[in-house]
Amino acid sequence: MQYPERFSNLPAYAFPRLRSLLDAHAPGGEPLAMTIGEPQHPFPGFVTTILNEYVSEFARYPVNEGTEGLLEAISGWLGRRYGVEVGPERLMALNGTREGLYNAAHALCPELKGGRQPVVLTPNPFYQVYAVAALSVGAEPVYVRATKETGHLPDYAGLPRDILDRTALAYICSPANPQGAVASRDYWRDLLALAERHDFRVLADECYSEIYRDAPPPGILDVAAEIGADPERVVAFHSLSKRSNLPGLRSGFVASGPESIRRIRQLRAYAGAPLPLPLQRVAEKVWDNEDHVVENRALYAEKYDIADQVFDNLPGYVTPPAGFFLWLRVADGEAAALRLWTETGIRVLPGAYLSREVGGENPGAGYIRVAMVAPREEVQRGLSLIRDCLYG
Ligand SMILES: Cc1ncc(COP(=O)(O)O)c(C=O)c1O
Repeated sequence: MQYPERFSNLPAYAFPRLRSLLDAHAPGGEPLAMTIGEPQHPFPGFVTTILNEYVSEFARYPVNEGTEGLLEAISGWLGRRYGVEVGPERLMALNGTREGLYNAAHALCPELKGGRQPVVLTPNPFYQVYAVAALSVGAEPVYVRATKETGHLPDYAGLPRDILDRTALAYICSPANPQGAVASRDYWRDLLALAERHDFRVLADECYSEIYRDAPPPGILDVAAEIGADPERVVAFHSLSKRSNLPGLRSGFVASGPESIRRIRQLRAYAGAPLPLPLQRVAEKVWDNEDHVVENRALYAEKYDIADQVFDNLPGYVTPPAGFFLWLRVADGEAAALRLWTETGIRVLPGAYLSREVGGENPGAGYIRVAMVAPREEVQRGLSLIRDCLYG
């Protein structure tokens, strides 16, 4: 039997890899998972009511692009959140943003750029679907370090001209998973200007946009509207998974120019898995409601206060401005994760499982990622054990 070669060099996914590292060893204390970014705060209570009300619609095939009500609700949210006008023709409902981030590359990445193999840029470390999307469309993924020196966001403008000229798509995550860095208005402006000069699209993964400490992170749609960027160049992704603690609902959306959305819709009409109608009804009401988002943010803020107290004296420790992870410096991420598990029972993710080695350097290797999704007391216990075990 033959298999495709294009995925042969993909490492095992982060979580099976972690299980291989840790599961042969007994935990050194009461186990606590601080690995996966699965929110554990409550989702809004009205979700159950809406679901019950529309349950009979499971009997119908769902609308591909999203119901009118859902697209209107998303359009309204974008208007309130970013002050932008994005009509339903510029929106597409997604079955969670992960599949959208993957499928958008199929709909939007050309076969060749200037007669050559196209490049897809991704930050390094990064949310892993970006690389698989690039490989799937036959593009060359180029991993661009996003380290302390670059403000934890990639410096795409510093790439060689030849790479930039071949670039068709650039993924960017703000607030960034795993580092929690936020793209400033200047960062977005510079990136859009670079995209204009080298004629590529920016795919902005903003699914942590509502989990922030002080100021709401600026969004690409907002800055693009302000500077009059071509809407077809801008592809923004948002999700209810983190904003509303509904990762299992599988609901997000993509916003772009009408032609890009038309192409995304067409591909999905053939091959997509639209969100079931009762879930679209739920999503509509959840985008319309902001109270639960404010409460959710406050719960994360309490956890960051705990982290600030626990790591108060740790040199180099900084609270990330957004997201719900800590990205902690260690000598070796894998060794630290193994030690934490065997000595305390705390599970964290080695940073290298989220990044690639380029030119002999793996920018995630000296880090662990800690998800602060568990209840407060558990987070307090976990962080204190991490401090005592790794930095004591
Ligand atoms: C950076 C980033 N992008 C996208 C996603 C996908 O979210 P969903 O598919 O639940 O919308 C996640 C989920 O963990 C993520 O961390």
